[in-house]
Amino acid sequence: MKKVRLRLSSSYDVHIGPGMLTQTGHWLMESGLSDRAVIITNPIVKELYGEALEQNLAREGFEAVTLQVPDGEEQKSLDTATSLYHELSKCYAERTTPIIALGGGVIGDLAGFVAATYLRGVPLVQIPTTLLAQVDSSIGGKVAVNHDQLKNKIGAFYQPKLVISDISTLKTLPDKEFANGLAEVIKSAVVWDREFFTYLEMNLDSLKALSDRELEEAVFRSVKIKAEVVEKDEKDLGLRSILNYGHTIGHAIETAADFGIGHGEAIAIGMIAAARISNRMGILDIKELNRLTDFIRRADLMIETPRLALERIIQAVRHDKKVMAGKIRFVLPKAIGDVFITDKVEPSLMEQVLVGFNEES
Ligand code: NAD
Ligand code: GLY
Repeated sequence: MKKVRLRLSSSYDVHIGPGMLTQTGHWLMESGLSDRAVIITNPIVKELYGEALEQNLAREGFEAVTLQVPDGEEQKSLDTATSLYHELSKCYAERTTPIIALGGGVIGDLAGFVAATYLRGVPLVQIPTTLLAQVDSSIGGKVAVNHDQLKNKIGAFYQPKLVISDISTLKTLPDKEFANGLAEVIKSAVVWDREFFTYLEMNLDSLKALSDRELEEAVFRSVKIKAEVVEKDEKDLGLRSILNYGHTIGHAIETAADFGIGHGEAIAIGMIAAARISNRMGILDIKELNRLTDFIRRADLMIETPRLALERIIQAVRHDKKVMAGKIRFVLPKAIGDVFITDKVEPSLMEQVLVGFNEES
């Protein structure tokens, strides 16, 4: 078992290890949380882990109520948040009643948003059950719902009281969900920690085989990286945006493909594209670019036949540019483990790099 402490405006611990879910009651009491709790989850996660959590809480003397929302990104909405407010009122949730978000990033963001706003804020406990949620979304306090076709349009910075990352839950993840998280793990290493990248290269097979030791280490080191970045820039005013490495082009690819491509694959292409841009700008050495590309291929994150819809991707980037007052910000690697932020990437260079993907297929 491992622990990371986030030292923020409101500090908290992230507990990482196998079987952690069934120690939730203990960690809640250690954090001074009340003897009532509301679990927010979805039917898929409830079926897998709801009973184990409820039993643990009952054994530790908690009175817990479980609220469910359907599965899916579309539940990150004000409508679903409103129905959760009604449910919370019906079960007499008070200012001191913790909300436990049990699930992936969708549940974490939605339940986090509800916790941030209900009664002007009730304690939030994150129990992330996807790799992406364990290494990224449960850490750092961004909570939100989507609105007006825009992702995370309405939200807050609201830090949890506690994060419990049970790596055993990752064993039931569909492959594509594991791949989404793996892309974020690789991103963390590339932006901050060259030695972690080497560790991932050496241990990729065990990680993909879901070995407890490597899973725990990969989640721990990714959380540590995110903690260090967020501690330096909690409100996302500068440095924190390095965590968007691979996401500028990655998001455009997801939009252009109408979300018919995995998030992890889109981010993987985005990371390689940004690395190629940096190489063509004379910054990233070709050996580093090849090392990154080889590793992403080994991680099975390169899609087989990209045939990227170039025009649509470029349109999507241009749309983002309008949204961001004419400037598109790229996070580019100088070397593996070291990145910088720039808005000086020529659109023609980005286009050349994307054309390159199509020529390879
Ligand atoms: P998700 O929450 O939709 O989960 C993916 C799927 O896996 C769902 O069908 C879910 O029911 C299922 N699932 C969850 N745990 C499981 C388990 N242990 N076994 C089997 N199935 C399981 O998706 P996600 O990738 O976890 O999160 C994506 C969301 O996270 C997006 O809404 C994104 O905007 C958000 N996000 C937020 C932040 C942040 O800082 N707040 C960062 C990154 C992403
Ligand atoms: N996922 C990026 C962030 O938390 O800032």
